[in-house]
Amino acid sequence: MPEPIVVIGSSNVDFIMKMDHLPARDETVTGAVFMQTFGGKGANQAVAAGRAGGNIIFVNCVGDDPYAGTMVAGYEVSGVRTDRIFHETGIASGAALVMVGEGGHNYLSVASGANGRLTPERIDSVRDLIAGASYVLMQFEIPAESIARALDIAAEERVPVVWNYAPANPFDISQLDKVEILVANEPEVATLTGITVTNTASAADAAQALRALGVSTAIITLGEAGSVIAAEDGIEHVSAFPVEAVDTTAAGDTYCGCLVVALAEGKTLPEAVRFAGAAAALSVQKLGAQPSMPWREDIDAFLAERG
Ligand code: RIB
Repeated sequence: MPEPIVVIGSSNVDFIMKMDHLPARDETVTGAVFMQTFGGKGANQAVAAGRAGGNIIFVNCVGDDPYAGTMVAGYEVSGVRTDRIFHETGIASGAALVMVGEGGHNYLSVASGANGRLTPERIDSVRDLIAGASYVLMQFEIPAESIARALDIAAEERVPVVWNYAPANPFDISQLDKVEILVANEPEVATLTGITVTNTASAADAAQALRALGVSTAIITLGEAGSVIAAEDGIEHVSAFPVEAVDTTAAGDTYCGCLVVALAEGKTLPEAVRFAGAAAALSVQKLGAQPSMPWREDIDAFLAERG
């Protein structure tokens, strides 16, 4: 077994409405299709990484609601180790309301629930896992002080951190020098750098600005326009795979989980970004977060087919 990838983050019960267009304020849209499934950016990235063949341990808090057991069992089916998930009492698991409209675009609202209990003390209690990891992978649906603590521990233990700065929330940028790879989309990178990204050129500027803030490598994801990578050896643009999107929810999560699996396997950064992009392209063709995530054979077949 290779050294594990430790995913630290959130889990949510997702309540999804798929409709032909997203409602305007105060508008009611009828004729929607409803689906209850499991999501949360941390869990999604752990599941995507597990299905892609990674050795994954997920650090998370769930509540004592009826969904929690089924949710955790689902991670195990995807090859994710769940013995460091904390089962909290007196609180519900995280929940998300997702509305999906035309082009697969969405409105998304999250109630943190038990995810708020993934405190710095909980992070301290998994120091052994962090110390033995090939990578730590995080997002931003848990408390900022817990992210900061994990960054401190990983830096002390010399373990590289991949941080998906999603969703964008206030954060102490002096901590960014502890991030090996930061992945952000257009609005997220604007929050950190103040740079509005509208094309690959402005994405390159924003990625360089992240490097100036201390991040070793920055990856700006641009959806159908691909990814811009800024690393020590320069800037590179990697194209996306054109597909018909049904639901873009968790495309970024699929991307991040698969990116880290590819890096842990020793792929170069552009190769890993291409692998991640292929997985994301597969995920947007199905409804839901975890139900849409591909398995390794699907990703390899897609890459073989698309050259
Ligand atoms: O990134 C998609 C995820 O964001 C959804 O699964 C939802 O739970 C929210 O966390």
